[in-house]
Amino acid sequence: MTERIIIGSDHGGFMLKGEIIKHLQADYDVVDIGCYSKDSCDYPIIAKNAVNEVLKTNCRAILVCGTGIGMSITANRFKGIRASHCTDAFTARMTRMHNNSNVLCLGERITGTGLALDIVDTWLKTEFEGGRHQRRVEQIED
Ligand code: RB5
Repeated sequence: MTERIIIGSDHGGFMLKGEIIKHLQADYDVVDIGCYSKDSCDYPIIAKNAVNEVLKTNCRAILVCGTGIGMSITANRFKGIRASHCTDAFTARMTRMHNNSNVLCLGERITGTGLALDIVDTWLKTEFEGGRHQRRVEQIED
């Protein structure tokens, strides 16, 4: 079955979000939850809508803002969300293997498109290792 991926951005991440959608749409069921133009908008609203979908349907999400930080701060306020702000592929891989990250946050003003797409691919394709990491993830949720 094709994996469903929620993707959202504010105006600061709008262009990179478009590049990620183009990159993923042949292989994933990509659901764009906004914003839908470069007009200024509020990243906490987008992050909240995205993580509610993640929690409701047990899918993963990618959130993009100017730095990736506002999105990650907001997303991590929600129990069950493990949002990872990544600027390199090593971190993207490790946060899937060890933290079972379910939200990837990127900064359009920080990370160029080529690197961002590599981070996205790495994060999407890397599996959680489980084992001792499962216990630690459960400790986060407690
Ligand atoms: C918007 O200007 C900017 O503050 C936002 O995209 C994000 O970087 C916040 O963390």
